[in-house]
Amino acid sequence: MQIKAPKGCRDIYGVEAGQLQYLERVYYDLAKKFGFQEIRVPTFEQTELFQRGVGETTDIVNKEMYTFEDKGGRSMTLRPEGTAPVVRAYLEHGMANLPSPLKLFYSMNVFRYERPQKGRYREFQQFGMELIGASGALAEAEILSFLDSFFKKLGLVDYQLALNSLGCNACRSAYNEKLKDYLVEHSSELCPDCVGRSQRNPLRCLDCKNPNCAPVLNSAPLPADLLCSDCQAEFTKLLAALDQLGINYYLAPRLVRGLDYYTGTVFEFQSDKLGAQTAILGGGRYDKLIAELGGEPTPAVGYAFGVERLRLELEAGGLLPEFQPRADLSIVSFADTGVEALVLANNLRAAGLVVDCDLMGRSFKAQMKQANRQGARYLLVLGTDELQAEEVEIKRLSDGSTAMVLKSEITKYIKQSEEANGR
Ligand code: HAM
Repeated sequence: MQIKAPKGCRDIYGVEAGQLQYLERVYYDLAKKFGFQEIRVPTFEQTELFQRGVGETTDIVNKEMYTFEDKGGRSMTLRPEGTAPVVRAYLEHGMANLPSPLKLFYSMNVFRYERPQKGRYREFQQFGMELIGASGALAEAEILSFLDSFFKKLGLVDYQLALNSLGCNACRSAYNEKLKDYLVEHSSELCPDCVGRSQRNPLRCLDCKNPNCAPVLNSAPLPADLLCSDCQAEFTKLLAALDQLGINYYLAPRLVRGLDYYTGTVFEFQSDKLGAQTAILGGGRYDKLIAELGGEPTPAVGYAFGVERLRLELEAGGLLPEFQPRADLSIVSFADTGVEALVLANNLRAAGLVVDCDLMGRSFKAQMKQANRQGARYLLVLGTDELQAEEVEIKRLSDGSTAMVLKSEITKYIKQSEEANGR
């Protein structure tokens, strides 16, 4: 039987691989302009990192982790997200001693045992950022402003940014108590999962997907009802900053996010083009996580998005450039000029052209056909006469026109000719 890729895992190739390279390029370039530096962390970590970091009662830790025992009997987990590993690395390498704030970005594959569907996979790629060491609205505005610039660079202007504040320790614990009392009062109308969570971590009940719980959860108290005046003021500052930066948002009082480390501002970018998978991106402030993982109390804010969800969103909006691989020049060669064609191709590539040449000893006719099929723009026939000559004939395939060009000027000729033709 033929072996297939594991369920929910994808092979990426051809046009799609080109599209992802494009997204990576735009993302990396802009992240660097905003002063973020790349961080790469291991694909798997000690399981405890996610249990303590993301939270034991979250769906991610409870149901979705790929956990295994290694040969030394240690419990390891394929990372289901990037924030906890980045914080682990921050602590392990004493990055608190680096100039603050620390601005990190990443691209990583993450793993969640979820039911696969469009935009939802078991292995998927996230782009993310973590800005560590700055509290308050300005750091949040910087992150959201980066994202606004990134999406606009991609042509995505009609995204929806949902914002909420979960409050600090003080208002969060008052809210937790109020929510717990409410849920306990209505426990007979809740699913067994929610009954358990209402004791241990009431906020997680708000993520429940069971339709039977919806009526109770829809009327539950909201974090905004209990925000303290400091949290309220900081959140108002953020909204004013976003107004000034020209970033559109809407308030989403029910947005709580599915990971336990959030405090204060949380946000999601949502789309209606992805069916059930509405969140393209999620993030927020996590001021307690670094202390919870053993560091000094340090404020931090970050986000991540599923690259595939973003790609689907761009595709639906017709916003992805065309990614057919196209050679600038195809060199047609013969049995006795094949190696010379490789040498010439290498020289022209070094000068900046995309050059294709025959590797299969094809006939002249088959090579011409191949050049057309691959969308080559120009053609050069390299026979033994051309090896000796100083000039060669270059044919423009779009209109069949030809020109005699000095070998030393092929690159210049093609570039000028392309420019003259508006490419
Ligand atoms: P998250 O909301 O769990 O947050 O995931 C972020 C994004 O990953 C989602 O908005 C979605 O685009 C994508 N995603 C999630 N699950 C899947 C899936 N099964 N298939 C495809 N894409 C998926 C986090 O991971 C946090 N670490 C974000 C963060 C960073 N918060 C602060 N810093």
